[in-house]
Amino acid sequence: MAVKMRAPEATVPDVIDPTRVPVHVACVMDGNGRWASERNMVRTEGHAAGEQALVDTVDAALELGIKWLTVYAFSTENWRRPISEVRYLMNFNERLLLRRRDELSAKGVRIRFVGRRDWRIPRRLLARIEETEEMTAGNDVLTLSIAFNYGSRAELVDAVKALNAEGVEPSEEAISARLYDPTMPDVDLWIRTSGEHRISNFLLWQSAYAEFVFVDAYWPDFGRTQMVEAVAEFQRRDRRFGGL
Ligand code: IPE
Ligand code: IPE
Ligand code: MG
Repeated sequence: MAVKMRAPEATVPDVIDPTRVPVHVACVMDGNGRWASERNMVRTEGHAAGEQALVDTVDAALELGIKWLTVYAFSTENWRRPISEVRYLMNFNERLLLRRRDELSAKGVRIRFVGRRDWRIPRRLLARIEETEEMTAGNDVLTLSIAFNYGSRAELVDAVKALNAEGVEPSEEAISARLYDPTMPDVDLWIRTSGEHRISNFLLWQSAYAEFVFVDAYWPDFGRTQMVEAVAEFQRRDRRFGGL
């Protein structure tokens, strides 16, 4: 059994009020291809460079005391990409899990997946996903939820189908309870990198009252500094939830 060490404690930067840290931060990890193209590299090298950004972002979340982090790794629309890039991403995500899961687990990170677990995902990757979820199920410092073959519309369709099959009356609670991860809290802070200002089918239901922050940096250039800045921006917002 790996020895559990706690996340690097304390040094929450002065700009952050530790009593008002968002519970759930969601991240669209976008801009890998452009990051690579601007460096005359192939697109896939941009995905590879994004791995460090993910690790740094998780470390920043641990440092700030964020409890849930959901990252968009592969959308239901990303199947439209050339088969070579899709294949690369399947392999890359499998290798990334194998490379990183022990160190993440040692930091107390529980890893979960949200998305449609269908035949399009290679069997080997599905097996790694299930293994990783089991391996880290007992961790409770941070939940890293990886959105893979994820699309909000598919998720809502699947939830409505489940309601129908069970003959349950639709309600907000009944729908929430049938999403891919019913224990996922609502998103407080929703971040997208790469300067694009769109949602791209990511956590529509869960982000009904999220604060949106759009960052110009490409994903491989995202890290602790940008995460702290996004949380500081979140803390400057006035959340009203329809009230006054
Ligand atoms: C995000 O980077 C990663 C995935 C969608 C898997 P992109 O691959 O979308 O990079 P850009 O947006 O083309 O630069
Ligand atoms: C969203 O990025 C999906 C992920 C980051 C995994 P895309 O690059 O696929 O989104 P669009 O196509 O620009 O909307
Ligand atoms: Mg993109």
